[in-house]
Amino acid sequence: MVTDIGAINSLKPFRLVKFFSFSSLAVILITTLALSWVISNYTKRVLLERSEAYALVFAENLNHQVFQQFVLPTVLRYGAIALRNERQFRRLDTIVRNTTHGMHIEAVSIFDSRENVISYSTVPERVGKRGVGGKEYELALTGKNNSVMVTHGSFWNLFPGAPSISCRLITYIPFRQERELSQSTDQIMGVIEVEQELSDDLRAIIRLQGVIALTSLLIMGLLFAVLRYIVARADRTMEARAAERRRLEEKLHHSERLANLGKMVTSVSHEIKNPLGIVHSTAEILERRLKTLAPGNEHLATIIIEETGRLDGIVREFLDFARPQEPKKNLVAVNKGLEKALHFMAAEFERHHVELVTALDGALDPIPMDDDLIYRVYLNILVNAVQAMPEGGILKVATARGAQGGVAIEFTDNGVGMTEEKLGHIFTPFYTDKNRGTGLGLAIVKNIMDSHGGRVEVESAEGRGTTFRLVLPGS
Ligand SMILES: Nc1ncnc2c1ncn2[C@@H]1O[C@H](COP(=O)(O)OP(=O)(O)OP(=O)(O)O)[C@@H](O)[C@H]1O
Ligand SMILES: [Mg+2]
Repeated sequence: MVTDIGAINSLKPFRLVKFFSFSSLAVILITTLALSWVISNYTKRVLLERSEAYALVFAENLNHQVFQQFVLPTVLRYGAIALRNERQFRRLDTIVRNTTHGMHIEAVSIFDSRENVISYSTVPERVGKRGVGGKEYELALTGKNNSVMVTHGSFWNLFPGAPSISCRLITYIPFRQERELSQSTDQIMGVIEVEQELSDDLRAIIRLQGVIALTSLLIMGLLFAVLRYIVARADRTMEARAAERRRLEEKLHHSERLANLGKMVTSVSHEIKNPLGIVHSTAEILERRLKTLAPGNEHLATIIIEETGRLDGIVREFLDFARPQEPKKNLVAVNKGLEKALHFMAAEFERHHVELVTALDGALDPIPMDDDLIYRVYLNILVNAVQAMPEGGILKVATARGAQGGVAIEFTDNGVGMTEEKLGHIFTPFYTDKNRGTGLGLAIVKNIMDSHGGRVEVESAEGRGTTFRLVLPGS
């Protein structure tokens, strides 16, 4: 349950960051595209309106020039307008070209009003073409000016190798008769088609669109990166705080549990210790008496003495665990205490066919530690190692200089080893797989190492052996 809540706590901020980052990225992208689209559309509309207005002014002037300089004199001279007549055509052409000169107009064509045919055009191939006017021509015949924009290309055409962008604005204006003083009438004689080349302008607009899109993408991308960095940092801080809180809570629970357990164990052990002492000494008296009263039966008393001795050991271990002692530290040479423990265990090694191999660094600095407590650490680990090699084996003990003046003491056996799962439990109080073990040995080891500011590292492979490494800080 506790871990479930922990998992949810650690997931929440992470999801928030992800959600925040990606939704802001999406908003940024959409905004950028929308912005560049709106701006370029607006610019295109302005271009269209301006060019259309320009075409209208131009067409009005052309209407006037053609009517005054061509229609009137031609009707007076020839009686009617017939552009098939070479001279008439040339005259009209001169007037149109003079009017168009320097006006940024690509082409001018004049449609007949009776049928959809081009009577005159500055582009010779278009003269005589039928049916090319379309609905714009029809609309102009009813007296309405109108335009059509023909474009090819988009943003992608800016890239090298792509076909170039082209844009033409074609405006259709009715060609009206004029009264005196140049006043136009409703009499429509034809339709003037004015064609403007706007490719350069469109290219500039599309380029602008690209520049806007790129610049805003760049700025917003930068903003996004900064935002993401800030949020990620905040997230890391939050996560670190949550982890620290969880760690402290865990520690608190652990110490509470241990304190309660300690109280219970202390009182029970205390109650057992005294009667046990009485049983032990009574059995010793009994053993002596049995020797004289019933020789041959003294081994019964010996069993009681041995077992009460063992029970006393267990009770002492309980008390050690439940009431951890404050270490009384002195500067001590590590090898000395270790050699004492190895000497004490020598008979045990021999009995279990354990070959001892030592590699002690003779140049180690003395370390501040409680000699007696660390001695118990060695014994616990050495006893475990012997028990892990029921058929005998090799036990290597080595000391070496650690980081920052500290010392590392290594015990390596080639015994039964441990699984990953077991390795996770060995420091838990009362965890044991032995019939006669209390499971407190390593819990006591850890307590003592913690009280020295040191640590215990374990590496183990099932069936191959185990290494316990004690790391003690220097002075
Ligand atoms: N060198 C080792 N090789 C393999 N397993 C080990 C080794 N040392 C410890 N263990 C495992 O760790 C468990 C816990 O060890 P610990 O010393 O705390 O308790 P114990 O030895 O079972 O009992 P106690 O030490 O109280 O008599 C052991 O039961 C054993 O399974
Ligand atoms: Mg043990």
